[in-house]
Amino acid sequence: MSDEFGSHKDVSENLPSAHGAHSGDAVQHDPFANPGLPPHEYRRQDIDEKAAKHSERVVAGLFTLSMLGTIAFIACFVIFPVDKIVYIFPFGHVSALNFSLGLTLAVALLGIGVGAVHWARTLMSDEEIVDERHRADADDELRENIRQQWITGARESGFGRRKLIRTTMYGAMALVPLAGVVLLRDLGPLPEDKLFHTLWAKGKVLINSNTNKPLRPEDVVVGSLTFAQPEGLQESDEDFQQQIAKAALMIVRLKPEDIKDKREAQWGHEGIVAFSKICTHVGCPISLYEQQTHHVLCPCHQSTFDLSDGARVIFGPAGHPLPQLRISVNGDGNLVALGDFAVPVGPAFWERS
Ligand code: FES
Repeated sequence: MSDEFGSHKDVSENLPSAHGAHSGDAVQHDPFANPGLPPHEYRRQDIDEKAAKHSERVVAGLFTLSMLGTIAFIACFVIFPVDKIVYIFPFGHVSALNFSLGLTLAVALLGIGVGAVHWARTLMSDEEIVDERHRADADDELRENIRQQWITGARESGFGRRKLIRTTMYGAMALVPLAGVVLLRDLGPLPEDKLFHTLWAKGKVLINSNTNKPLRPEDVVVGSLTFAQPEGLQESDEDFQQQIAKAALMIVRLKPEDIKDKREAQWGHEGIVAFSKICTHVGCPISLYEQQTHHVLCPCHQSTFDLSDGARVIFGPAGHPLPQLRISVNGDGNLVALGDFAVPVGPAFWERS
């Protein structure tokens, strides 16, 4: 007889025998009577060799599909250049390489997974077995032993006699969780519109972050990458880290004929363009510039942006292009901002439209 629901011995003696023949008395007296195993149902594949052969072919077909998926994955990796963009309904414009690699790898993995499940469900052994469980509760002797130890411990600690200690201990235990509760205050205050604004404003001079001097157009040559910050921001400022984390800029000079995005050219000055240095994935600072392709690479998760095409994402997990800052030159010949960024810098967040 099976005792798979952990019934006590005296109860299980009243249970029906295996294979589900209920006795009316047992059901009446024990609402949790062990129903036993239902009659075994044979699958079609167990009794029909033709059906078994068909299942075998289906499983082999799925594993073959997986192999084709892997071969296609390798082929796509070789065929598609990293910056090839294609239109795929309903996703819109996507990287051909990313899309094809994801699709073919999914086919390869699903082929193995679905094949293994189908094999197990149709062809592997389908025999029901009963695995007897030991009793889950402690026996009477052990329970009595623990009860005695508890009583002895309480008596020896004086918990019952020493009312003052008992009361203050309850007080201490009730108060200690408050330490965790007050820490919740640090979740606020809400940032309000701080994530939408940086220190950049009309007329703010771009300061070279290395030399600490105003940046002039002639300082920025083709092929170089320069970092800049707003004038007036000092490392000694209390909120320096917060402000530089939003306002840091990357400046490059591109040949006008290399700029693919018309608006990008208009927002720059004679081929000099300024983009946020903060990755739009999770906010790492970007600093790797490939001058031949005008790509910049984020070292954290390899998001790659094309600075000659509006800093569009061409690879990796970032969801937005790097925001561009409109710049010009002031009467002193220094590069200046023409306002703040048009969109929030850095990673996406819930209120960002
Ligand atoms: S933070 Fe740049 S790719 Fe993740």
